[in-house]
Amino acid sequence: MAKTVVKGAMIYEGKAKKLFETDQPDCVIQYFKDDATAFNAQKRGTIVDKGVVNNKVSERLFRLLEDAGIPTHFLERLSDREMLTKRVTIIPIEVVVRNRVAGSLAKRLGLKEGGAIEPPIVEFYYKNDALGDPLITEDHVLLLNLAASPVVNQIKAWASRINQLLVPFFQERSLVLVDFKLEFGLYHGKLMLADEISPDTCRFWDKQTGESMDKDRFRKDLGRIEEAYQEVLRRVCG
Ligand code: TMP
Repeated sequence: MAKTVVKGAMIYEGKAKKLFETDQPDCVIQYFKDDATAFNAQKRGTIVDKGVVNNKVSERLFRLLEDAGIPTHFLERLSDREMLTKRVTIIPIEVVVRNRVAGSLAKRLGLKEGGAIEPPIVEFYYKNDALGDPLITEDHVLLLNLAASPVVNQIKAWASRINQLLVPFFQERSLVLVDFKLEFGLYHGKLMLADEISPDTCRFWDKQTGESMDKDRFRKDLGRIEEAYQEVLRRVCG
């Protein structure tokens, strides 16, 4: 697919990204905004240059995963904030992989933050803002017709494989990959990784200090948010 595309009309605006059509019907432009939300958009703000960081970090990680045989929607990075991707139909499931206890898992199960999860776990959340993205089981995925059974199995296998690839990648960069969220899509019936992988969608703890280096700094008002995003960019792409 060609790199030179003509940007068309906006198709969709989400909380952190906009999608534009192009002169190629199978390709869209994903534009990364600086807008930040948390708690189902009850909290809103701006993280300066977050869009640039998330675009570049996602590019690096999509390339790494493609090289390891995981199909992704990524085609080319077009600019600081724009990425050309295949036009997939997103499966409305947020797939979360967890290596350490944190966030909603700690809350839901009353576990202390930081404990190792061995083997890592994969969870599904129904991507539905009106319902607040509830945790769902595999049976619920089938009940709601979100994906067919073989697709669910492939998603679980790829989520685990992606984790196996990303944990050492971040470890080499002095970041503990605590947990992360993935979204998958279908492109002419073919399953592939989509959306983004960035400090918005991952938890990273600095290996030395244990400090959060991700969107938790915004969620929990920890300060030095921009610095953390820039430091992740430097470690991932620098
Ligand atoms: P959680 O502990 O709040 O369930 O979050 C698990 C992971 O998923 C964490 O790395 C942050 C990411 N995440 C998103 O990417 N989008 C979301 O809307 C939420 C709630 C979490």
